[in-house]
Amino acid sequence: MSEYDTEPLQMSDVLVTARSLEEYIAMFDLDIDDLAGKCVLDCPGGSASAPAELAARGIESFAIDPLYGGDRHLLADRVAHEVERWADFARTHGERLDWQQSGTGEELYRARVHSAQQFLDDFNARPAHYIDATLPHLPFSDDAFDLAVSSHLLFTYAGMFDADFHVASLLELARVAKEVRAYPLVSIEGVEDAALLDTVTSELTDAGLEVERPASRYRRQVRATTYLRITRR
Ligand SMILES: C[S@@+](CC[C@H](N)C(=O)[O-])C[C@H]1O[C@@H](n2cnc3c(N)ncnc32)[C@H](O)[C@@H]1O
Repeated sequence: MSEYDTEPLQMSDVLVTARSLEEYIAMFDLDIDDLAGKCVLDCPGGSASAPAELAARGIESFAIDPLYGGDRHLLADRVAHEVERWADFARTHGERLDWQQSGTGEELYRARVHSAQQFLDDFNARPAHYIDATLPHLPFSDDAFDLAVSSHLLFTYAGMFDADFHVASLLELARVAKEVRAYPLVSIEGVEDAALLDTVTSELTDAGLEVERPASRYRRQVRATTYLRITRR
């Protein structure tokens, strides 16, 4: 077995993670000052605190995730369980993570617990901003958002979602937002699927979109050093 060989992924393998705004800023090379007066979509939001932290800075933000459609009373338990599942993953797959800028496992764990709590507080305070929906279909009109960010679903679970799903999801995000940024471009195993990226790039380009691959400042996963930036031509 090579370091990349794994069992086929199943839907239950998709982790629900709780990244912070600081992590989103690094992943997508965001400039918070540029976001003033804009409307941001986080899809999938999972239990990330980025939408809550954007809202606290006066930036309009919404999140999409099928997670939000479950029993509201069970959400806190589910989110806590998922933080533990992520911590288990980090412990057992430490070689896939880039520890140089991540601090210790304990520091990262505490940060995830903190983000998850910020998410839960905001979910309860602003429930209408957390919408139960599933890519590749979003319940928004064209151009509803200035920016859509998508982290750790597309490309991360490339073994579970085919090229058609990736293309349809990114086209849908580009329909509802004037600009889309997606990260990472490697799978959860740390492998870049060049054929998938080629298909996505050429289909989006054929649809009249500009596709770029800038450097990301986020360093948590080995080989995850770039993000996809999709704009209108
Ligand atoms: C690894 S989490 C990422 C959450 C957040 N973006 C972050 O980086 O912390 C992946 C999320 O994708 C959600 N998900 C799974 N399938 C989806 C789909 N078809 N459309 C939208 N979200 C989906 C899961 O519920 C899960 O919360």
